[in-house]
Amino acid sequence: MLLAVGPNAQAADAPVTLKDVFKDHFPIGTAVNRSMMMGGAGFRRSAELNASDVATLKQHFNQIVAENDMKWQLIHPREGQDGYDFAPADALVNFAASNRMEVAGHTLVWHSQTPNWVFAGTNPPPPSATNPPPAFAAGNTNAPGTNRFGRGGFGGGFGRYTGPRASRDELLARMSNHIHTVAGRYKGKVKVWDVVNEALADGQGTNVLRTSLWSEIIGPDFVAKAFQYAHAADPQAILRYNDYGLENPAKRKRLIALIKELQAQKIPVHAIGSQAHVNVATTFETMDQSLTEMATLGLPIHITELDVNSAQGGQRGFGANVADNAATTQGGLVSDADKKLADAYAGIFRAFVKHRDSVKLVTLWGVNDAVSWRAQGKPLLFDGENRPKAAFDAVIRATVGEPSKSIR
Ligand code: G3I
Repeated sequence: MLLAVGPNAQAADAPVTLKDVFKDHFPIGTAVNRSMMMGGAGFRRSAELNASDVATLKQHFNQIVAENDMKWQLIHPREGQDGYDFAPADALVNFAASNRMEVAGHTLVWHSQTPNWVFAGTNPPPPSATNPPPAFAAGNTNAPGTNRFGRGGFGGGFGRYTGPRASRDELLARMSNHIHTVAGRYKGKVKVWDVVNEALADGQGTNVLRTSLWSEIIGPDFVAKAFQYAHAADPQAILRYNDYGLENPAKRKRLIALIKELQAQKIPVHAIGSQAHVNVATTFETMDQSLTEMATLGLPIHITELDVNSAQGGQRGFGANVADNAATTQGGLVSDADKKLADAYAGIFRAFVKHRDSVKLVTLWGVNDAVSWRAQGKPLLFDGENRPKAAFDAVIRATVGEPSKSIR
């Protein structure tokens, strides 16, 4: 079959789909939100548009990851074995099975979106003193299994817990319990886990790891411990270390130091997750260099959260801190944004194809611009009505005719 590319792709005999075009290279995945998995209207999305998002998902992608619903704060908002809200994650795993999609789990241990109780000492003072409960967004029903964020939603996510702290042993026990329960529940269903997310420091300092409650309470070996627990919970799962900004040489150096250290200790880390929240200034050369260096670690590379910011405010770096998001989507789009986006995507995918022996998975961070966390930066391949953009055609063109591989 000849693949039709270009603006008329949709009108061709057989529609060109991402998953078909890349089937001999790597699965093509996307982050999905709760309404896509559970139906109905969603955050900033009518039921009709949500249905159209699901149709695009089924047509073009063969791998999914929960954009939010497997984060600690959503899946395990309350302490104890009855403190889990599994319904949205269960829906995702069932959706994937019904639609023959692979699943990545995001994420087991992260400094962000972790409820305060996780870090609290056994006998902390009453909540009002130092450990305020999260403030819920207006309209949040707090009901598990609804289409909204459940109890323990995002209200308290960014404030750092300042109350009395758990001991190292207490926190390790909570981490172990969480990982065994969550990874254990989805054993054989979630193929790959982001075991530790964003543990690396930013900036130009000499620290490898960022300072977080995990690193302060447990110490730097919290990373190794998390991988050991995850391996015990699901020995078949591919265990990934996941971070952003790895296109930046200073951050990449830290990644290489961390992974080498884990490898020296025989810690079961099986893949590098490179988020790739990049911008339209990103070239083939930048991505080529980044992949070449990461590949020296000898592990598969998964591109885990790809999007390409077209907003003026986002052209300076490759950060993905949620707290900085507003600034990175300000200032309107760059001039000639559609073309610049297409050119950037073309270069980025050419690099993925060049490095297909290392790149085993490519996941975009959202189906279309409207549901993106950086909606104002119009960073994805489909517009808010699920029409393929020039960047979609560019991606297809970057790859037609290349030979193949699979995820591990
Ligand atoms: O759904 C609620 C809605 O009911 C409420 O009215 C509204 C009010 O603000 O909030 C909505 O929840 C938001 C949720 O995304 C769903 O859109 C939260 O406020 C918001 O904080 C949350 O942000 C997510 C962010 O991680 C924080 O966890 C983004 O969707 C998600 O794309 C982003 O993903 C991260 C990866 O996990 C890790 N790497 C970086 C990446 C981008 O920041």
